Amino acid sequence: MNKTAIVRCEHFNAAHRLHNENWSDEKNREIFGKCNNPNFHGHNYDLEVKVIGVCDPETGYVIDTKILSDLIKRKVLDRFDHKNLNLDTEEFAHLNPTAENIAIVIYDLLKSELASHLDLKIKLYETARNYVEYPY
Ligand code: NI
Repeated sequence: MNKTAIVRCEHFNAAHRLHNENWSDEKNREIFGKCNNPNFHGHNYDLEVKVIGVCDPETGYVIDTKILSDLIKRKVLDRFDHKNLNLDTEEFAHLNPTAENIAIVIYDLLKSELASHLDLKIKLYETARNYVEYPY
């Protein structure tokens, strides 16, 4: 039976600073530019969570959207919304909070909670013009 994808769109705001703690301040400024601003800056992140699988013959669902939205709220939004990613979260205490890394962390947080027969793809918009996809 063919698989179907269902996508849940969510949103969160967060502050971050791109910084490699193994580099000098000068190298960090050179590589990350304004994104290395010591006093942080914010983004309005748009998150698309795509769950892929065969529809359950009894419900007609890949996954119940209420279950999916509750899961995203509990594992992602409660953790990151209105937070400073570098200072307020253990996930990015030592991991540079690029859009790429945020997408990977979100994938890992959600994947472990989904039934094993379901595939997961994350799309994360950092701006209207920049987004990342994981896995690719
Ligand atoms: Ni930024």
